Amino acid sequence: MARTVQIFDTTLRDGEQAPRCSMNLQEKVEVAKQLERLGVDVMEAGFPAASPGDLAAVKAVAAVVKNCVVAALCRATKGDIDAGWEAVKGAARPRIHTFIATSPVHMEYKLKMAPDEVVRRAAEAVAYAKTFCPDVEFSAEDASRSDPDFLCRVFGAVIEAGATVVNLPDTVGYALPDEFGKLVAYVKANTPGMEKAMFSVHCHDDLGLAVANTMAAAAAGADQLECTINGLGERAGNASLEEIVMGIATRKAYLGMECRVDTTQIYATSRLVSKVTGVKVQPNKAVVGENAFAHEAGIHQHGILANRMTYEIMTPESVGFLSNRMVLGKHSGKHAFEERLKSLGFDPADLDVEDLFARFKVLADKKKTVSDRDIEALVVGSSKTVPDTWKLDRWVVNSGSSLSSTCTIRLANKSGESREEVAVGDGPIDAAFTAVNKIIRKDLELDSWEMGAVTEGEDAQGEATVKISYDGIQWNGRGLSTDVIEASILAYIAAINSMEWELSAVSPSARKRAGNVEGV
Ligand code: KIV
Ligand code: ZN
Repeated sequence: MARTVQIFDTTLRDGEQAPRCSMNLQEKVEVAKQLERLGVDVMEAGFPAASPGDLAAVKAVAAVVKNCVVAALCRATKGDIDAGWEAVKGAARPRIHTFIATSPVHMEYKLKMAPDEVVRRAAEAVAYAKTFCPDVEFSAEDASRSDPDFLCRVFGAVIEAGATVVNLPDTVGYALPDEFGKLVAYVKANTPGMEKAMFSVHCHDDLGLAVANTMAAAAAGADQLECTINGLGERAGNASLEEIVMGIATRKAYLGMECRVDTTQIYATSRLVSKVTGVKVQPNKAVVGENAFAHEAGIHQHGILANRMTYEIMTPESVGFLSNRMVLGKHSGKHAFEERLKSLGFDPADLDVEDLFARFKVLADKKKTVSDRDIEALVVGSSKTVPDTWKLDRWVVNSGSSLSSTCTIRLANKSGESREEVAVGDGPIDAAFTAVNKIIRKDLELDSWEMGAVTEGEDAQGEATVKISYDGIQWNGRGLSTDVIEASILAYIAAINSMEWELSAVSPSARKRAGNVEGV
């Protein structure tokens, strides 16, 4: 019989910690709800001691998630553990996750602690966490570069202090699959009291081996696999959830293993995380990339037409991948639209169907064909994580090859008052963004602007993603329109609305993001 491994998602912590991947509180809650729908066993919601903003976000996630464990990361200190417990105590199933480094280089140069002191600090931290929370995970940071016998000693001590999970991370992505599998088997076999705790692994992708190492560890007996959506995470990222889960699902018979994730929610989760972080998924990314199910070569297409199994080891439907085929047209009614939303995995009860249907009709008038991708983009784009401080009222651009571009824009603020400005720029987008800056009276920096198409074809919807920064903090925004300039303006305003909301909701000192905290 297949054994069940636990999937521990850390998109909201290790993923969010990566440069340019930050999410605001509302976005974290939105992603957390989707992770719950996806069926992960554990979600790590953040690092509460990093900032009051992070603590508030973990608290908000803990309050809404009911069907999986919500974990908070803490260094092995009382202050961190107090903050971690404050953040997750409201969860239906809380977990405190504490860690300390165990490799010679980390102990000597970062912690400046002798090995005996590290063992003592680890056990004390777990014992302290245990006074609040029955479920406590301990991680030995940089474990793959630690002495295996020392790891057994640390894990033995923390299990004795009450740890329910011990985690062996390949923090710097240094391990090789065969070596990592052997390390897991050795530490599992030689840790005193190991039968009382679960064994977890957490791999980084510096050598592109995070998923391979995770699979090797699972085969060697790991019970819990830590990973992130789209492989986001520090530096080259973490092991990608979708690749691990589909590896397990596709090779279940060989591996003798399964997990509880609902694979049909994978694509929607990947799209949502990409939307809120503004980090695009590479087209050839396994499982969720745009080309993951595209068959270009004639010989492949021939095989696929004869029998899909010739070139497809998993079906697009099994990961909830959306096809590009025409599904609805301008004569489709609201009922058909609502049914389509359901078949795409959305719950109409969570959506403003009237508004979406009105926008679908406008789109169907402009486009010849409306596909699943278009509908999904409408829904994902319409989910408001923050209130509209500013709304686009109207715009006009004048641009050409032998003159500077100018843009006139009118925005309405939340009290309904309109402001209009004109600006000149190096091209229409620059002119438009400069005019918006004049209206909101802030000198924002544009860190990146990207444009993509939701579908193929000349009438495709344009999807713009922008990253802006103000006072050293970055925000993302996304905009959708059949006009690329309008999509860009909408994305810029969405990023501004995120910024305005966060600046008004959280004090300046609370805005420091988790990634800057020492020791992680
Ligand atoms: O990579 C790592 O070692 C971590 C730990 C804090 C679990 O993220
Ligand atoms: Zn990590």
